Amino acid sequence: MVLATSYFASFLMLAAAKPMAPRTMVVHESRAAPAKGFVQSAAAPAERALTLRIALKQNNIAGLQTELYKVSDPASEFYGQYLTLEEVAEFIKPTDETLAVVSSWLSENNIGAKPITPAGDMLEIKIPVSQANNLLSAEFSVFTHVETGKTSIRTLQYSLPASLTEHVEFFHPTTIFTPPLGSMPKFVASSPAKRATPGSDDVPASCASTITPACLQAFYGIPTAPATQTSNTLGVAGFIDEWANKADLTAFLTRFRTDINSSTAFALETLDGGSNPQTRSEAGIEANLDTQYTIGIATGVPVTFISAGETGPDGLDGFLDMITFLINDTNRPSVLTTSYSFQDETDLPVSVASNLCNTYLQLSALGTSLLFSSGDGGVSGGQSAGCTNFVAPFPAGCPFITSVGSTGGITEVGSSFSSGGFSNYFPTPDYQTGDVAAYVAALGTTYTGKYNGSGRGFPDVSAQGENFEIAWDNEFGTVDGTSCSTPTFASIVALLNDELVAAGKPVLGFLNPFLYSPGGRAALNDVTSGTNPGCGTNGFSASAGWDPITGLGTPNYAALRIAVGL
Ligand SMILES: *[C@@H]1O[C@H](CO)[C@@H](O)[C@H](O)[C@H]1NC(C)=O
Ligand SMILES: *[C@@H]1O[C@H](CO)[C@@H](O)[C@H](O)[C@H]1NC(C)=O
Ligand SMILES: *[C@@H]1O[C@H](CO)[C@@H](O)[C@H](O)[C@H]1NC(C)=O
Repeated sequence: MVLATSYFASFLMLAAAKPMAPRTMVVHESRAAPAKGFVQSAAAPAERALTLRIALKQNNIAGLQTELYKVSDPASEFYGQYLTLEEVAEFIKPTDETLAVVSSWLSENNIGAKPITPAGDMLEIKIPVSQANNLLSAEFSVFTHVETGKTSIRTLQYSLPASLTEHVEFFHPTTIFTPPLGSMPKFVASSPAKRATPGSDDVPASCASTITPACLQAFYGIPTAPATQTSNTLGVAGFIDEWANKADLTAFLTRFRTDINSSTAFALETLDGGSNPQTRSEAGIEANLDTQYTIGIATGVPVTFISAGETGPDGLDGFLDMITFLINDTNRPSVLTTSYSFQDETDLPVSVASNLCNTYLQLSALGTSLLFSSGDGGVSGGQSAGCTNFVAPFPAGCPFITSVGSTGGITEVGSSFSSGGFSNYFPTPDYQTGDVAAYVAALGTTYTGKYNGSGRGFPDVSAQGENFEIAWDNEFGTVDGTSCSTPTFASIVALLNDELVAAGKPVLGFLNPFLYSPGGRAALNDVTSGTNPGCGTNGFSASAGWDPITGLGTPNYAALRIAVGL
């Protein structure tokens, strides 16, 4: 870190009526230039109000991690004994010293702050640009995302008084330049084709070209009988004005689940000004896919569509607020499926990525299974053709979530778009050290320098993800992507949870320690062929055991039932 004394700030203090001791300012975060794709267009108007979030140092994140593994490891005597919100907050809440130091600094500057998380580890303040520039020795400017024309107010550097640096993780949004969320499937209208019948045991031949719920039921042995436990719910995350349409859902169920009530619907929860208008032409492909393949697969499990609006100060905030909202929700779902991701984790400063990942840690410790799509850019992530190094999308590299990749075909093969690889931000977690080491050893010198063999490897598991038939805007067609695989895998977890709750047992919670255990991996179909090319290479290859394209493999419901003790 670079030390800098802010002469401007001390000059202001001399002029102030109430004398204050000058503070030594220390650069807290900085970058040389905006991220690729953004240009600095003007100074930010001095009076423009900025909403800033202050992430305070959490008192014992390592302690919470230890607790998470205790309650998620099938070999532990505490397996399934999830923490309460209050127990989680004990690890997350800032120390009294942190609170005292930060609040006295804010009140010296006449700034009111509002805690926005249950543990009070994140504060929100609203101040004009001019005050933010003085307070943080920053230069807030307007930046434009060239491709979309969207503007945002950011600074390339900001500083904090030296006495605050150990108490504050970051101010947000400051040096972050997040491009739009990735992983949006494309819709290809289809002519009616021969379709599989629901409930058939053998995989029908039509599943080679078009995937329907009946295909997935046959592939993975998914039961068609309705779930019975109303307390066990499945959450579907919605962002960027992707709206889930009920009429399309009814059309989908009418065609593909003739054995269930075609009026089966989802509940709606909203945050950050989110909504779910039902004008059919405003339906989102992603939102329709996610609701159709949860309600269509997790038969009888109550599904909630959780729609985050765009009122937060940054596109990323919906991601954070969704989890904060669920942490504080007494009816939180036992499984959450999210088919949105940031294509390159390095688009987020490591401070912000770690904070968000620790939010997943909190929700996992409360007993929710979090499944995220691994991304659709193969090893290149969203990079353009000339890339040299592989990237990890976010949150695929966060160790506290389950990352889902894709397969296709009747004999399953890893899909070429299925993102997989290794994080540069998060080290390999214990549950997969043997798997990552074995894969890296087998690679030898292939791709040395292009990937980080000491990072968290992803995806963890996979499921079919090609040619999924959906209804969208009153039309049938197909979509591809890890966006298809994630709700499929999540639905299977939700059905297992239903049986566990019915048997008086705890739900599965954070899945990875179970999935990587001998019992868990034996209940997955190992996928051993396929590659995910990118950056002028063939990408990684699927192989026996874990690999960074299909993870440990695809689900086998009957085997999973036994492995979870049913
Ligand atoms: C959490 O929920 C309670 C009510 O259930 C509400 O009063 C409180 O404001 C919420 N806290 C946050 C940080 O959202
Ligand atoms: C089908 O579901 C709808 C919506 O939940 C409900 O109103 C209706 O009564 C159900 N029909 C049958 C036959 O169960
Ligand atoms: C590789 O991953 C490790 C563990 O997360 C990290 O400490 C290191 O900085 C990464 N290397 C690079 C070049 O990013």
